[in-house]
Amino acid sequence: MIDKLNIIFKERFSCNPEDSYSSPGRINIIGEHTDYNLGFVLPAAIDRYVSGSFRKNNVGLIRVFSADFNEYYEFSISDREAPEMLWCKFVYGVVQEIVKKIADPQITNNIAFDCVFAGDIPLGAGLSSSAALENLFSFAINDIYSLSLTKEELTFIGQAAEHNYIGVNCGIMDQFASMMGREGSAIKLDCKSLDFCYLPFDNDKVKIVLFDTKIKHSLASSEYNIRRAECEKGVGILKEFFPAISSLRDISIDQIEQHKESLPDILYRRCSYVAEENTRLQMVCNALENSDFKTFGKLICESHKGLKYKYQVSCEELDFLAEAAENFDGCYGARMMGGGFGGCAICFIKPDAEEAFIKELSDGFYNKYGTLPDCIDVSIGKGTHKISQQL
Ligand code: GLA
Repeated sequence: MIDKLNIIFKERFSCNPEDSYSSPGRINIIGEHTDYNLGFVLPAAIDRYVSGSFRKNNVGLIRVFSADFNEYYEFSISDREAPEMLWCKFVYGVVQEIVKKIADPQITNNIAFDCVFAGDIPLGAGLSSSAALENLFSFAINDIYSLSLTKEELTFIGQAAEHNYIGVNCGIMDQFASMMGREGSAIKLDCKSLDFCYLPFDNDKVKIVLFDTKIKHSLASSEYNIRRAECEKGVGILKEFFPAISSLRDISIDQIEQHKESLPDILYRRCSYVAEENTRLQMVCNALENSDFKTFGKLICESHKGLKYKYQVSCEELDFLAEAAENFDGCYGARMMGGGFGGCAICFIKPDAEEAFIKELSDGFYNKYGTLPDCIDVSIGKGTHKISQQL
């Protein structure tokens, strides 16, 4: 990939790039819609990356070429108008958020570079190709200009770009998982304190198969923001009884049950789902530590049901896949993954069952919906990094 990028770089900018970086997509094992409620998540970086080659220039512009889209975009640090094209918005947003964070024009006015990038993270599949792109640029700019921002600060740059330039009030999970990922391990992240630890995940014992429904319902981002607002409303009501709470992280299922009558049904469902998902996540971590994949799988299936019935972010096709997977003998468990309303189902299966599993689910999906889902075989990869090389 980098060789290809370097050739294109030379053709476009008539010189060799200086530095190259890679940033992965992510999966999430469990802990869905818990990040912005300051709970726990258990994501992992995957072995699918967006990579870019960079070189400072002296023309005062940021010039970026997407090799996948065959599209070019240039702007200067002082441009006030955000671009129209989606991938350009991510680049522009990250640069603007870095300028804001550094708050020193003497430093940031010097930011001018050329870049060619490309990737193999399926787009729109809920694998956080956007967080990967944000991290690629924030990490590269931080390194090239020696800005000394920590990795944690860089994850917040990506998240702020998403809030302010894309309009999705996402949590921190995607950027964090992509930035901090480690090969062979999931990341157990406390989204309140940002404490995290790596939890080994043995791909030889449990295979991860993703089915991309290739569906992206247009309501995905508006419904996402609505869910977030509903949770905040729920906290507002529960706070009357428990003044110390500041997010759904701080409240137990029992406390919610005690005040069920005070919550409108929708808010009760949202709040109880989040509290249950946080508890499930802790149980999943214990099960993984004990290699108890049966319990692990059962909890994964319960997560799907919570997302379907209580949080109401699934869709028919994801439900079909989750149910077919649950009924398959060699599958430990499966659930929808990410924001919802389309994207991928994540399935955890016994390694020797892979072939039969993929065939059964693909055939079943085709017979029902007339299209084949994309089946994506992933392993746990490493977080955003610089690629050492001799150019
Ligand atoms: C999207 C968001 C994340 C997270 C998930 C749901 O991927 O970007 O912050 O909220 O949805 O768990």
